[in-house]
Amino acid sequence: MKNNNTNVILEIKEVSKAFPGVKALDRVSLEIMKGTIHGIVGENGAGKSTLMKILSGVYEKDSGEIIFDGKKIESITPAQSMKLGLSIIYQELNLVNTMSVGENIFLGRFGEMGGRKGVHSKARALLDSIGCKIDTKKEVSELSVSDKQMIEIAKALSFDSKLIIMDEPSSSLTSDEMKQLVQIIHDLKNKGISIIYITHKLDEIFDLCNSVTIMRDGKVIDTRKIDAISRNEMISMMVGRTIENEYPPRPNFVGETILEIKEINSKKLKDVSFNLKKGEILGFVGLVGAGRTEIARAIFGADKVQKTVLLDGKPVNINNPIDAINYGLAMVPEDRKIQGLLLQFAVDKNISLASLKKLTSYGFVNEIEEKKISERHIKSLSIKTPSIKTKIQMLSGGNQQKAILGRWLEIKPRILILDEPTKGIDVGAKYEIYMLMKKIVEDGSAIILISSELNEVLSMSNRVITICDGKITGEFDPTQAAADEILSKAFDFGCD
Ligand SMILES: Nc1ncnc2c1ncn2[C@@H]1O[C@H](COP(=O)(O)OP(=O)(O)OP(=O)(O)O)[C@@H](O)[C@H]1O
Ligand SMILES: [Mg+2]
Repeated sequence: MKNNNTNVILEIKEVSKAFPGVKALDRVSLEIMKGTIHGIVGENGAGKSTLMKILSGVYEKDSGEIIFDGKKIESITPAQSMKLGLSIIYQELNLVNTMSVGENIFLGRFGEMGGRKGVHSKARALLDSIGCKIDTKKEVSELSVSDKQMIEIAKALSFDSKLIIMDEPSSSLTSDEMKQLVQIIHDLKNKGISIIYITHKLDEIFDLCNSVTIMRDGKVIDTRKIDAISRNEMISMMVGRTIENEYPPRPNFVGETILEIKEINSKKLKDVSFNLKKGEILGFVGLVGAGRTEIARAIFGADKVQKTVLLDGKPVNINNPIDAINYGLAMVPEDRKIQGLLLQFAVDKNISLASLKKLTSYGFVNEIEEKKISERHIKSLSIKTPSIKTKIQMLSGGNQQKAILGRWLEIKPRILILDEPTKGIDVGAKYEIYMLMKKIVEDGSAIILISSELNEVLSMSNRVITICDGKITGEFDPTQAAADEILSKAFDFGCD
């Protein structure tokens, strides 16, 4: 795409960046037009976040040229890049939890705002301009993820941003919050602001973006206008091969009941009872906040709730995750950054963590076995890492998640609870995860699958349970029921 330069807000020319053992960006060139929404897609580790971090001054490029708003940019700091009008909203949001909303928006600029009072009145005006009602005096720690995102957007607007980068903004949003974000993105665009939108949800690319750039292995494969590319083309460019189906054939081995859950009751959950069969994938469908994660945590003993659990027909007490693991349960939690990763530790330690008991004798870890385990999962899940000894925080977001998945797969649980297992994971790797799930149940285990991606639950599950407002509202055979019939039971109006 060659364009008249006055319409270009950002020009990236032949930018390269290497980390020890990885060429993260290889002569990347890209143009972003004024007032457009530009999507970027690519496999985990393709280099998307690295490129954005170079633009925002977190990393320095090794070579190449960046021209923003007509000016060449050389080694800038994050603060300078914001002043120039280039803002980035990281997936792992960047606010100070112990400060108020207003203070966060104008952090470091209280003087310019005329002190505390000025900070709050100006913050109010900014929030109003994006239709956000949050009290500017509220402490950020009390806000939901989506509210925090709104604060980041207000902060970007306070710098008069000409370009706002959003790195996987939608992964923790409810559908209502997503609608609000879409509205705000359109309003920003109408004000002439450009947006770079990174996501693994290809539907969002088609719904929102004017153009899309596909990256693979640190290179730009192509940039297209959105109406000049099909979903299949996009996927093949991302993964470098054609993928016939996004889902493997559904496993169909369902056996006798292994787990019975009776009447989980808690603040959030009401009389939740169901059973799980050997070889089954049982899907839970519900909105974010409906209580799906609470059910998972209740079964796993992570939260204290009232419940009766029968395993192979016998009552068992699962009062904490250790009990759960001893009974052959495993859970891959939704928020892996907080609940699962040891960021300072190497990839191999993160993978072997749940198997340490098996690997340890007389206080010593069998390192040869540990290495074998890590290597096997790195291969089977295609985890992109320079070595098994690389610190996990150096890996791309999606590859960190795959390592956690490997950790739980290794203990070969009888019952595996997966909470949003493919969040932030690219299409190619998703398929590999689906194949692994299929193998796990075919080997006689059972899976509870919680996912906000309806197609994923409907395509992989043998049975689907809908949850709304802490209650079970329906049970379906996904090969028989229509998707909207299932969805209506998961939405508010299906609750009663
Ligand atoms: N600080 C760092 N040190 C070493 N390697 C890094 C660092 N940051 C990123 N990398 C490596 O650079 C490559 C590109 O990573 P990047 O985070 O840009 O991928 P991504 O496209 O954003 O992937 P994802 O979709 O998983 O978020 C990966 O191989 C990653 O391991
Ligand atoms: Mg990333």
